[in-house]
Amino acid sequence: MSVRNICCIGAGYVGGPSCSVIAYKCPDITVSVVDLSQQRIDQWNSDNLPIFEPGLDEIVKSVRGKNLFFSTDIDKSIQEADLIFICVNTPTKSYGLGKGRAADLKYIESAARMIANVSCVSKIVVEKSTVPVKAAESISNILRANHKPGVKYQILSNPEFLAEGTAVTDLINPDRVLIGGEQTPEGLVAIKALSDVYHRWVPEENIVTMNTWSSELSKLAANAFLAQRISSINAMSAVCEATGADVSEVAHAIGKDSRIGNKFLKASVGFGGSCFQKDVLNLVYLCECLNLPEVAAYWQQVININDFQRRRFANRIIECLFNTVTNKKIAIFGFAFKKDTGDTRESAAIYVASYLIEEGAQIRIYDPKVDRAQIFSELTHPAVCNNPDRVEELVTICDDPYRAAEETHAVVVCTEWDEFVTYDYKRLYENMLKPAFLFDGRVILNHQSLMDIGFHVETIGKRLARNNVNRPIAATN
Ligand code: UDX
Ligand code: ADP
Repeated sequence: MSVRNICCIGAGYVGGPSCSVIAYKCPDITVSVVDLSQQRIDQWNSDNLPIFEPGLDEIVKSVRGKNLFFSTDIDKSIQEADLIFICVNTPTKSYGLGKGRAADLKYIESAARMIANVSCVSKIVVEKSTVPVKAAESISNILRANHKPGVKYQILSNPEFLAEGTAVTDLINPDRVLIGGEQTPEGLVAIKALSDVYHRWVPEENIVTMNTWSSELSKLAANAFLAQRISSINAMSAVCEATGADVSEVAHAIGKDSRIGNKFLKASVGFGGSCFQKDVLNLVYLCECLNLPEVAAYWQQVININDFQRRRFANRIIECLFNTVTNKKIAIFGFAFKKDTGDTRESAAIYVASYLIEEGAQIRIYDPKVDRAQIFSELTHPAVCNNPDRVEELVTICDDPYRAAEETHAVVVCTEWDEFVTYDYKRLYENMLKPAFLFDGRVILNHQSLMDIGFHVETIGKRLARNNVNRPIAATN
């Protein structure tokens, strides 16, 4: 069978870019991306796309209205499609069984029910959102229990590995495309149909097929391994700070071993993003349900080290500022969870800012891509805040980094935006209160030249020799 019409349910960070690239690479396939949110669809149809990704605007502009459509007419798009991608959100459950760990599958279930309600001919249904192992089985059960006469479904798992900020290049040159499905004649036909879509631009050897559960678990495993790598180097950064070693040098040395490799070894204030924490927690929950408590505890530790790293960094700020930040003005540079994205989900900046707000600091936040409403919605979320009025009182959002740093005691870098490296730090320094502190949570700045200007500099995984300010009395931990 050959796919001619694709529907993508969910116009978010996964569905929007991945289906835009499919439309771009497959001019003979009509792609409709649908969402419940009229506002999101209107943005996809405007010049101001709802997400920022380098290169995405050009791709969307070149195919929108030709073979790429964004709409809220979900029923019609489902009916017309041969193949449906489910790209809805799967947040960590905030209530009930599995609270704080299991993925909430309510959006997946509602998408499956929509498909069953309106489909009059057979379809391939593809789970692209990251889902717990065996979610395909749940989708299959819902579809098969509600199918119309003669309508059959094949369920495939096709996890998305794109990273935000590099989504377009990741989609155009993927390391691999993973497709899992039933190992039956019908299942293999469906796998082939989806492989043929990707094959227009992905070499055959990079399209990996397997059974559904392996595919679902591979996605969780890939994210767990990546998150574990960051927690490993961050754990090492604490040892470096205590011993005088430099974590960048350690990362360089171990990265030279081709078995370890040099990627993803950058110590930081902690990983963020919508996937790592959610997927590791999901894996922990799966292991607990499978009665594998030792395996669950092993992966849980990846999260614990990430929490420890964020808290450790915030504590260092407080200790350096003479053990109190109450009423002190502190500028935070960067609120996105990494550079080149406006996404703030699970960003380390949320936690660092919240800890400082708890201590009564007056925070000024500057991020080149994140707006005020987004920052306030993160900082007042019940998971991190029990007093939204206090956030309103203590937090100011600035649209200029120099203005943000004026009259502050400290600048704290939480995101590795390129522009932060090129600022005029002499100018920043002159307008700050003295001693002026700079906390580099991303290890991106030239620390020696900052110290030469007069800054007291603190960073991750390295003790900096200094002579301009006394070391704080309390130990940093
Ligand atoms: C991740 C996976 O990389 C991707 O394959 C999957 O599909 C979704 O989850 P993403 O969360 O978008 O992608 O970004 P990623 O580049 O993996 O970074 C995640 C977090 O780790 C960011 O906060 C980043 O700053 C941090 N990080 C990354 C480090 O602290 N150090 C590193 O060396 C690399
Ligand atoms: P992700 O990062 O996984 O792409 P997002 O939150 O960015 O997650 O996007 C998921 C999108 O899915 C949201 O825009 C949401 O409105 C949409 N969505 C959730 N459930 C449904 C549904 N049943 N039908 C259509 N769209 C849905």
